[in-house]
Amino acid sequence: MKEFANQIQNFLNRDCRVTAVPVIDSTNRALKEQAAAGAPEGTVLLADRQTAGRGRMGRSFFSPAGCGLYFSIILRPQRPDPLKITMAAGVAVAEAVKVVFDIDLKIKWVNDLYLLDRKVCGILAEGAAGEKGLEWCVLGIGINVYAPREGFGELEQIAGALLPQGEADRRAELAAEILNHFFECYEKLDDPAVLEAYRERSYLQGRKVTAYRGNEVFEGKVIGIGDEAELLLQKDDGEIVALSSGEVRLENYR
Ligand code: BTN
Repeated sequence: MKEFANQIQNFLNRDCRVTAVPVIDSTNRALKEQAAAGAPEGTVLLADRQTAGRGRMGRSFFSPAGCGLYFSIILRPQRPDPLKITMAAGVAVAEAVKVVFDIDLKIKWVNDLYLLDRKVCGILAEGAAGEKGLEWCVLGIGINVYAPREGFGELEQIAGALLPQGEADRRAELAAEILNHFFECYEKLDDPAVLEAYRERSYLQGRKVTAYRGNEVFEGKVIGIGDEAELLLQKDDGEIVALSSGEVRLENYR
Protein backbone atom coordinates (compact mmCIF):
# COMPACT_ATOMS: atom_id res chain seq x y z
CA MET A 1 0.00 0.00 0.00
CA LYS A 2 3.06 2.27 0.31
CA GLU A 3 3.30 2.06 -3.48
CA PHE A 4 -0.36 3.11 -3.75
CA ALA A 5 0.27 6.15 -1.53
CA ASN A 6 3.34 7.07 -3.62
CA GLN A 7 1.34 6.84 -6.84
CA ILE A 8 -1.21 9.25 -5.37
CA GLN A 9 1.52 11.68 -4.30
CA ASN A 10 2.84 11.65 -7.89
CA PHE A 11 -0.52 12.76 -9.29
CA LEU A 12 -1.10 15.42 -6.60
CA ASN A 13 -0.54 19.08 -7.34
CA ARG A 14 -0.27 20.08 -3.66
CA ASP A 15 1.21 18.93 -0.38
CA CYS A 16 -0.80 16.26 1.43
CA ARG A 17 0.39 13.70 3.94
CA VAL A 18 -0.97 10.51 2.33
CA THR A 19 -1.00 7.09 4.03
CA ALA A 20 -2.62 3.95 2.62
CA VAL A 21 -3.36 0.77 4.57
CA PRO A 22 -4.72 -2.60 3.40
CA VAL A 23 -7.45 -2.78 6.03
CA ILE A 24 -8.89 -0.65 8.82
CA ASP A 25 -12.20 -0.42 10.68
CA SER A 26 -12.98 3.10 9.38
CA THR A 27 -10.70 5.79 7.94
CA ASN A 28 -13.01 8.44 9.43
CA ARG A 29 -12.73 6.92 12.88
CA ALA A 30 -8.94 6.74 12.65
CA LEU A 31 -8.49 10.29 11.36
CA LYS A 32 -10.85 11.73 13.97
CA GLU A 33 -8.46 10.34 16.56
CA GLN A 34 -5.49 11.87 14.72
CA ALA A 35 -7.27 15.22 14.29
CA ALA A 36 -8.06 15.36 18.01
CA ALA A 37 -4.36 14.68 18.66
CA GLY A 38 -3.38 17.65 16.49
CA ALA A 39 -2.64 16.17 13.03
CA PRO A 40 -2.56 18.92 10.38
CA GLU A 41 -4.95 19.79 7.59
CA GLY A 42 -4.18 17.73 4.49
CA THR A 43 -3.59 14.48 6.38
CA VAL A 44 -5.14 11.77 4.18
CA LEU A 45 -5.77 8.12 5.04
CA LEU A 46 -6.92 5.52 2.49
CA ALA A 47 -7.82 1.88 3.02
CA ASP A 48 -8.29 -0.90 0.49
CA ARG A 49 -10.96 -2.36 2.79
CA GLN A 50 -12.93 -1.16 5.81
CA THR A 51 -14.42 -3.56 8.32
CA ALA A 52 -16.72 -0.93 9.86
CA GLY A 53 -17.10 1.77 7.22
CA ARG A 54 -19.45 4.47 8.51
CA GLY A 55 -22.22 6.28 6.68
CA ARG A 56 -24.55 9.08 7.70
CA MET A 57 -27.33 8.60 10.24
CA GLY A 58 -25.43 5.78 11.95
CA ARG A 59 -25.55 3.60 8.84
CA SER A 60 -22.66 1.44 7.66
CA PHE A 61 -20.79 1.81 4.38
CA PHE A 62 -20.05 -1.42 2.49
CA SER A 63 -16.29 -1.35 1.84
CA PRO A 64 -15.00 -4.61 0.27
CA ALA A 65 -11.36 -5.06 -0.80
CA GLY A 66 -9.93 -4.38 -4.25
CA CYS A 67 -12.78 -2.40 -5.77
CA GLY A 68 -13.50 0.81 -3.91
CA LEU A 69 -11.84 4.03 -2.90
CA TYR A 70 -12.30 4.68 0.81
CA PHE A 71 -10.49 7.65 2.26
CA SER A 72 -10.66 10.52 4.70
CA ILE A 73 -9.06 13.95 4.90
CA ILE A 74 -8.40 16.16 7.94
CA LEU A 75 -9.52 19.75 7.47
CA ARG A 76 -9.06 22.72 9.77
CA PRO A 77 -11.45 25.16 8.10
CA GLN A 78 -11.14 28.92 8.45
CA ARG A 79 -14.92 29.07 8.13
CA PRO A 80 -17.06 26.46 9.88
CA ASP A 81 -19.42 25.49 7.11
CA PRO A 82 -19.85 21.69 6.95
CA LEU A 83 -22.64 21.96 4.36
CA LYS A 84 -20.47 23.87 1.90
CA ILE A 85 -17.49 21.61 2.58
CA THR A 86 -19.64 18.57 1.77
CA MET A 87 -20.90 20.34 -1.33
CA ALA A 88 -17.32 21.03 -2.45
CA ALA A 89 -16.49 17.35 -1.94
CA GLY A 90 -19.47 16.28 -4.07
CA VAL A 91 -18.41 18.61 -6.87
CA ALA A 92 -14.79 17.39 -6.60
CA VAL A 93 -15.79 13.73 -6.89
CA ALA A 94 -18.06 14.42 -9.88
CA GLU A 95 -15.40 16.49 -11.66
CA ALA A 96 -12.64 13.96 -10.99
CA VAL A 97 -14.76 11.02 -12.17
CA LYS A 98 -15.47 12.97 -15.36
CA VAL A 99 -11.76 13.69 -15.94
CA VAL A 100 -10.49 10.17 -15.18
CA PHE A 101 -13.31 7.99 -16.56
CA ASP A 102 -15.43 10.39 -18.66
CA ILE A 103 -18.48 9.41 -16.59
CA ASP A 104 -21.17 11.95 -15.62
CA LEU A 105 -22.49 11.68 -12.06
CA LYS A 106 -25.43 13.41 -10.43
CA ILE A 107 -25.37 14.71 -6.86
CA LYS A 108 -28.27 13.89 -4.56
CA TRP A 109 -28.38 16.57 -1.88
CA VAL A 110 -26.41 16.68 0.10
CA ASN A 111 -23.79 14.01 -0.04
CA ASP A 112 -24.60 11.11 -2.36
CA LEU A 113 -23.45 10.68 -5.94
CA TYR A 114 -25.47 8.71 -8.44
CA LEU A 115 -24.73 7.03 -11.73
CA LEU A 116 -28.08 6.61 -13.46
CA ASP A 117 -30.24 5.52 -10.53
CA ARG A 118 -27.56 3.82 -8.44
CA LYS A 119 -25.63 5.32 -5.56
CA VAL A 120 -21.92 5.04 -6.32
CA CYS A 121 -20.47 7.39 -3.72
CA GLY A 122 -21.25 8.63 -0.22
CA ILE A 123 -19.61 11.45 1.72
CA LEU A 124 -19.50 11.83 5.48
CA ALA A 125 -18.22 14.98 7.20
CA GLU A 126 -17.66 14.73 10.94
CA GLY A 127 -16.33 17.57 13.05
CA ALA A 128 -15.47 18.81 16.50
CA ALA A 129 -16.32 22.24 17.79
CA GLY A 130 -13.74 24.26 19.68
CA GLU A 131 -13.89 27.71 21.27
CA LYS A 132 -13.77 29.39 17.86
CA GLY A 133 -16.31 27.13 16.16
CA LEU A 134 -15.42 24.13 14.04
CA GLU A 135 -11.92 23.18 15.18
CA TRP A 136 -11.46 20.32 12.74
CA CYS A 137 -13.47 18.30 10.31
CA VAL A 138 -12.82 14.82 8.92
CA LEU A 139 -14.21 14.43 5.45
CA GLY A 140 -14.75 10.81 4.44
CA ILE A 141 -15.37 9.74 0.85
CA GLY A 142 -16.38 6.24 -0.22
CA ILE A 143 -16.68 5.36 -3.93
CA ASN A 144 -17.65 2.06 -5.51
CA VAL A 145 -15.16 2.24 -8.38
CA TYR A 146 -15.32 -1.36 -9.64
CA ALA A 147 -18.25 -3.71 -9.09
CA PRO A 148 -17.44 -6.11 -6.25
CA ARG A 149 -17.07 -9.76 -7.30
CA GLU A 150 -19.54 -10.80 -4.60
CA GLY A 151 -22.09 -8.14 -5.58
CA PHE A 152 -23.62 -5.59 -3.19
CA GLY A 153 -25.70 -8.08 -1.20
CA GLU A 154 -28.70 -6.43 0.41
CA LEU A 155 -27.77 -3.14 -1.30
CA GLU A 156 -28.07 -4.72 -4.76
CA GLN A 157 -31.10 -2.59 -5.74
CA ILE A 158 -29.61 0.65 -4.48
CA ALA A 159 -25.84 0.59 -4.97
CA GLY A 160 -23.85 0.65 -8.18
CA ALA A 161 -20.26 0.97 -9.32
CA LEU A 162 -18.58 3.26 -11.80
CA LEU A 163 -17.11 0.38 -13.80
CA PRO A 164 -17.42 -3.39 -14.10
CA GLN A 165 -15.01 -5.76 -12.39
CA GLY A 166 -11.70 -6.42 -14.17
CA GLU A 167 -10.90 -3.00 -15.63
CA ALA A 168 -7.37 -1.60 -15.11
CA ASP A 169 -6.94 -0.22 -11.61
CA ARG A 170 -6.94 3.60 -11.74
CA ARG A 171 -7.94 4.23 -8.15
CA ALA A 172 -4.71 6.09 -7.28
CA GLU A 173 -5.21 8.50 -10.16
CA LEU A 174 -8.85 9.02 -9.18
CA ALA A 175 -7.95 9.66 -5.53
CA ALA A 176 -5.36 12.28 -6.50
CA GLU A 177 -7.72 13.94 -8.98
CA ILE A 178 -10.41 14.17 -6.26
CA LEU A 179 -7.95 15.71 -3.80
CA ASN A 180 -6.74 18.22 -6.40
CA HIS A 181 -10.30 19.24 -7.30
CA PHE A 182 -11.45 19.24 -3.68
CA PHE A 183 -8.75 21.59 -2.39
CA GLU A 184 -9.35 23.91 -5.30
CA CYS A 185 -13.07 24.17 -4.36
CA TYR A 186 -12.36 24.22 -0.60
CA GLU A 187 -10.15 27.27 -0.98
CA LYS A 188 -12.99 29.20 -2.62
CA LEU A 189 -16.09 27.87 -0.88
CA ASP A 190 -18.01 31.06 -1.63
CA ASP A 191 -17.15 31.11 -5.32
CA PRO A 192 -20.45 31.00 -7.23
CA ALA A 193 -18.77 28.65 -9.73
CA VAL A 194 -18.63 25.87 -7.10
CA LEU A 195 -22.30 26.32 -6.27
CA GLU A 196 -23.15 26.40 -9.97
CA ALA A 197 -21.20 23.17 -10.57
CA TYR A 198 -23.21 21.59 -7.75
CA ARG A 199 -26.56 22.87 -9.06
CA GLU A 200 -25.82 21.65 -12.58
CA ARG A 201 -25.50 18.11 -11.27
CA SER A 202 -28.51 18.11 -8.96
CA TYR A 203 -30.17 14.70 -9.03
CA LEU A 204 -33.25 15.99 -7.23
CA GLN A 205 -34.10 19.06 -9.29
CA GLY A 206 -37.83 19.12 -10.06
CA ARG A 207 -38.52 15.84 -8.28
CA LYS A 208 -41.16 15.10 -5.67
CA VAL A 209 -39.48 14.14 -2.41
CA THR A 210 -40.06 13.55 1.26
CA ALA A 211 -37.54 15.32 3.47
CA TYR A 212 -36.82 14.49 7.10
CA ARG A 213 -35.27 16.98 9.54
CA GLY A 214 -35.25 15.72 13.11
CA ASN A 215 -38.89 14.92 13.86
CA GLU A 216 -40.20 17.08 11.02
CA VAL A 217 -41.35 15.63 7.72
CA PHE A 218 -41.84 17.74 4.58
CA GLU A 219 -43.33 16.64 1.29
CA GLY A 220 -42.89 18.64 -1.85
CA LYS A 221 -41.00 19.35 -5.00
CA VAL A 222 -37.33 20.32 -5.14
CA ILE A 223 -37.07 23.74 -6.76
CA GLY A 224 -33.36 24.35 -6.30
CA ILE A 225 -30.27 24.68 -4.16
CA GLY A 226 -29.95 27.93 -2.18
CA ASP A 227 -26.86 30.14 -2.02
CA GLU A 228 -25.77 28.49 1.24
CA ALA A 229 -26.13 25.01 -0.32
CA GLU A 230 -29.48 24.43 1.37
CA LEU A 231 -32.17 22.37 -0.38
CA LEU A 232 -35.17 24.43 -1.48
CA LEU A 233 -38.41 22.53 -1.33
CA GLN A 234 -41.86 23.76 -2.34
CA LYS A 235 -44.53 22.08 -0.26
CA ASP A 236 -47.86 21.12 -1.79
CA ASP A 237 -49.45 24.20 -0.12
CA GLY A 238 -46.94 26.43 -1.92
CA GLU A 239 -44.77 27.25 1.09
CA ILE A 240 -41.02 27.14 0.40
CA VAL A 241 -38.78 25.43 2.94
CA ALA A 242 -34.97 25.74 3.00
CA LEU A 243 -33.27 22.70 4.51
CA SER A 244 -29.72 22.96 5.79
CA SER A 245 -29.69 19.48 7.29
CA GLY A 246 -31.72 16.33 7.05
CA GLU A 247 -32.34 13.44 4.74
CA VAL A 248 -34.30 13.24 1.50
CA ARG A 249 -36.17 10.32 -0.05
CA LEU A 250 -37.62 10.29 -3.53
CA GLU A 251 -41.29 9.53 -3.97
CA ASN A 252 -41.94 5.94 -5.09
CA TYR A 253 -38.26 5.37 -4.72
CA ARG A 254 -35.58 4.58 -2.14
C1 BTN B 1 -22.98 7.83 3.36
O1 BTN B 1 -23.22 7.30 2.27
O2 BTN B 1 -23.87 7.95 4.22
C2 BTN B 1 -21.58 8.30 3.65
C3 BTN B 1 -20.57 7.21 3.41
C4 BTN B 1 -19.14 7.64 3.68
C5 BTN B 1 -18.19 6.48 3.52
C6 BTN B 1 -16.76 6.89 3.65
S1 BTN B 1 -15.66 5.59 3.20
C7 BTN B 1 -14.31 6.45 3.85
C8 BTN B 1 -14.77 7.13 5.13
N1 BTN B 1 -14.64 6.22 6.26
C9 BTN B 1 -15.81 5.87 6.78
O3 BTN B 1 -15.96 5.10 7.73
N2 BTN B 1 -16.80 6.46 6.10
C10 BTN B 1 -16.30 7.32 5.05
